[in-house]
Amino acid sequence: MPTFSATSTAPVNIATLKYWGKRDVKLNLPTNSSISVTLSQDDLRATTTARASDRYTQDKLWLNGTREEIEKKPRTLTVINELRKARAEMEKADPSLPGLASLKLQIVSENNFPTAAGLASSAAGFAALVNAVALLYKLPHSPTELSVLARQGSGSACRSLFGGYVAWEMGSKDDGSDSQAVEVAPIGHWPSMKAAVLVVSAAKKDVSSTAGMQVTVHTSTLFKERITNVVPQRFEKMKKAIIDRDFPEFARLTMADSNQFHAVCLDSEPPIFYLNDVSRAAIRTVEAINAAAGKIIAAYTFDAGPNCVIYYLEENEQAVLSGLSCLNGVSGFPQVSAAASGDDRWSQQLAA
Ligand code: ADP
Ligand code: DP6
Ligand code: CO
Repeated sequence: MPTFSATSTAPVNIATLKYWGKRDVKLNLPTNSSISVTLSQDDLRATTTARASDRYTQDKLWLNGTREEIEKKPRTLTVINELRKARAEMEKADPSLPGLASLKLQIVSENNFPTAAGLASSAAGFAALVNAVALLYKLPHSPTELSVLARQGSGSACRSLFGGYVAWEMGSKDDGSDSQAVEVAPIGHWPSMKAAVLVVSAAKKDVSSTAGMQVTVHTSTLFKERITNVVPQRFEKMKKAIIDRDFPEFARLTMADSNQFHAVCLDSEPPIFYLNDVSRAAIRTVEAINAAAGKIIAAYTFDAGPNCVIYYLEENEQAVLSGLSCLNGVSGFPQVSAAASGDDRWSQQLAA
């Protein structure tokens, strides 16, 4: 039998309403719904090749040139098994298909940006893995159906199956089948949105998102207030701000949610610190940019790491980037477009 191979890419997404907390650790079900903007794959992306061959004796994964021990990563195994199950069902229904489901997989992935540093590598990574294997297996799944699979690898990955403005609906079913990503608006609805990605540190974080969020769930009292009385209302307001293309409202909600997410991290026991002095200087700089403009033209947000993403509209690019040029200690990817279409995955290379 030949070696079957497919390559795909996936973009990062940076949440404007943060997912932080699991109600079911095994199925990766969140304690709250979340919203994000997908960034262009031209700038930050994961590229993943999946191969199936009867010469392979074991499923294996390499990340950035180093072997990952997937046998110790139950979530990665779950994603691979779910994809394989879907292929096996296809082969059962159509026996003329080549028997790929019974072959072991070798998966090779590279991120072109810092991994495990709070720039959503797990989101791009698991979305690219699902895209590549789904392409290899020729699965007929919609992006929302694939998002349910990607979610089981890393929660934030479900949102990287779509371009533009995306919601992850927490769902209510125990089996997680309705905990999925949906499009709030395509990028064309509000195409002038841009992001400046300021890399403060490319170092691997010392508390992973997976570990950090469960410390918060179990110890923070502020967290209960957040998921009960803050996020549900903010979810509706954020969607409305996107639909209305209301940048000041979108920006206010984004900054407030980043700040509350880092506040619940601090309220955890032991406390979790993701921001550093440069991160805080970036917050002050954005405040100064908005004060100088006399209106809100820039919104900062930080995931679980010190690196900063600043959303702004293209018409304000000069004011925002010249304001940011005063900031010391950052490098990175300024002027990233908010874009990417989930359908790009089907145009990727497929070989047998
Ligand atoms: P980040 O803030 O970068 O998302 P996380 O702590 O959420 O950091 O997740 C980092 C982990 O995600 C990595 O240690 C690795 O296990 C996984 N990951 C990152 N990139 C990829 C990829 N391209 N393919 C598969 N897994 C990946
Ligand atoms: C702060 O999706 O990385 O970036 O599901 O455990 O893999 P796991 O966590 P992950 O958490 C992301 C947390 C966040 C906020 C967000 O992206 O919504
Ligand atoms: Co992550």
